[in-house]
Amino acid sequence: MGKRVAIIGAGVSGLAAIRCCLEEGLEPTCFERSTDVGGLWKFSDQAEDGRASIYQSVFTNSSKEMMCFPDYPYPDDYPNFMHHSKLQEYIKTFAQKKNLLRYIQFETLVSSIKKCPSFSVTGQWVVVTEKDGEQTSIVFDAVMICSGHHVYPNMPTDSFPGLDQFQGKYLHSRDYKGPEVFKGKRVLVIGMGNSASDIAVELSRQATQVIISTRSGSWVMSRVWDDGYPWDMVYVTRFATFLRNVLPSFVSDWLYVKKMNTWFKHENYGLMPLNGSLRKEPVFNDELPSRILCGTLSIKPSVKKFTETSAVFEDGTMFEAIDCIIFATGYGYAYPFLDDSIIKSRNNEVTLYKGIFPPQLEKSTMAVIGLVQSLGAAIPTADLQARWAAKVFTNTCTLPTTNNMMNDIDEKMGKKLKWFGQSHTLQTDYITYMDELSSFIGAKPNIPWLFLTDPKLALEVYFGPCSPYQFRLMGPGKWDGARNAILTQWNRTVKPTKTRAVGKAQEPHHFCNLLKMLSLPVLFLAALLTLY
Ligand SMILES: Cc1cc2nc3c(=O)[nH]c(=O)nc-3n(C[C@H](O)[C@H](O)[C@H](O)COP(=O)(O)OP(=O)(O)OC[C@H]3O[C@@H](n4cnc5c(N)ncnc54)[C@H](O)[C@@H]3O)c2cc1C
Ligand SMILES: *[C@@H]1O[C@H](CO)[C@@H](O)[C@H](O)[C@H]1NC(C)=O
Ligand SMILES: *[C@@H]1O[C@H](CO)[C@@H](O)[C@H](O)[C@H]1NC(C)=O
Ligand SMILES: *[C@@H]1O[C@H](CO)[C@@H](O)[C@H](O)[C@H]1NC(C)=O
Repeated sequence: MGKRVAIIGAGVSGLAAIRCCLEEGLEPTCFERSTDVGGLWKFSDQAEDGRASIYQSVFTNSSKEMMCFPDYPYPDDYPNFMHHSKLQEYIKTFAQKKNLLRYIQFETLVSSIKKCPSFSVTGQWVVVTEKDGEQTSIVFDAVMICSGHHVYPNMPTDSFPGLDQFQGKYLHSRDYKGPEVFKGKRVLVIGMGNSASDIAVELSRQATQVIISTRSGSWVMSRVWDDGYPWDMVYVTRFATFLRNVLPSFVSDWLYVKKMNTWFKHENYGLMPLNGSLRKEPVFNDELPSRILCGTLSIKPSVKKFTETSAVFEDGTMFEAIDCIIFATGYGYAYPFLDDSIIKSRNNEVTLYKGIFPPQLEKSTMAVIGLVQSLGAAIPTADLQARWAAKVFTNTCTLPTTNNMMNDIDEKMGKKLKWFGQSHTLQTDYITYMDELSSFIGAKPNIPWLFLTDPKLALEVYFGPCSPYQFRLMGPGKWDGARNAILTQWNRTVKPTKTRAVGKAQEPHHFCNLLKMLSLPVLFLAALLTLY
């Protein structure tokens, strides 16, 4: 009999976990507190306790070819950036088609996970669940935590003097559902992430005035990139990652800032990040600069203090007669069912090997899935994390010693601090991370070998978008459809927009990229000349 694995949560991470357990002959049982799969993408009109909550107008910021389950492409007529309802439809069909629903116990809350007394020998966990007010405790051989990390709002109310005297309303973006109730109001949005920008842009059409207050600013990017292709199909490629890694950092920083400023000059819009070359995740919003140009939205620095009706900013200016403040200040990580010392084993910070395994356990029988954030999509990342975790549970893969894992964590923190800045220590370069994980399970695409045996495919894999299919192209867990999926990814990208046939469909030419590669030394010299 296979080992029994408890999976907490049936969002996309939970579904990936169930599937990967089955592939390794493990016996998964998934507990989901809500009534359906989808997690964050299961929309509801009211924020629910302990579950992520989104607003009615959320669209994805990764494109469909980059955010699918790696053996389950979206239908070709799906738009590239989807409304949440469309994504939820896809997630539900995936769960049905792969027969995952029978492993899920809905409306069942996991209230506690503790080590068995025999943990140092068996690695087993006691999982306590609650359904209809009744508690059950069951012993499992391993646990995968897939409970999400957009759940517990970060409300920095203490850092704003005077907020307690403010007489208007204030709320966290988690409780924002739509613009209707803000009609004719004066609204201040605090924060400059994807949610803050979406909400401010949406409000700017209904409210009387909208101001975004941001301490550090942000790069704002369009979803529509070079030649109109989705941004990630152009940016997230092996070739671009190679360039970023081989160029000296001052050159790659310069190119990065230049690219970020091609659409509009961020200084002139008050958006310029304080530290421009930091690879802080950009905001994807096509309307923000246009709302600023139209004067319905403006950007201010951080709030120094609040009075009963207004906000005073760091630069001394004021926003008066505010009706409502929306804190789009993000989320904190919390695992209320677990002893904090397991995951936050140091300085109360999340300390996990490769963002997955608690390093200090006597047995490697716990994995956190879906936690690492990178400039890449959640679904393929979760799939690869879960594949590795399942192999660790079956002892097909083994982890390094506690010491080595801790060293690796320290080393990574050092490098990441440099690239992504203090507040984004969990962020990693997507392709580097995916390649690393896939190499652990022997599924990393072997590019030189591909160039020898299948040059057409190799060109697309290396110069084209690093789509999820690449990680199910070879090795254990390989999907036979992967090659074809990669070769037809541009067809599925163009299909939903080319609804009026005019001429042949276009796709980018790798020949151009080859030229770019050859011209690299020239580029490099040019950069040197510009700087000196
Ligand atoms: C506004 C917004 C937009 C985003 N857009 C994108 C995007 O475009 N592309 C992208 O890749 N990512 C995006 N993300 C990131 C998003 O987090 C991931 O896409 C993904 O949904 C994470 O899935 P998950 O399964 O890890 O967590 P969740 O979707 O949060 O699922 C967790 C599940 O666990 C359940 N649960 C939690 N605790 C318990 C418990 N104790 N017992 C039982 N069940 C429990 C919850 O009910 C929930 O169903 C976005 C996030 C936000 C907030
Ligand atoms: C998409 O938006 C979500 C929510 O703000 C964010 O967590 C995620 O990192 C974004 N993805 C990218 C690629 O920027
Ligand atoms: C920006 O970040 C880099 C990398 O962390 C750092 O070396 C540099 O000093 C920072 N610049 C400013 C102006 O803070
Ligand atoms: C995909 O598009 C290319 C070029 O536009 C075309 O030659 C090819 O036949 C298409 N493939 C499929 C399966 O539609």
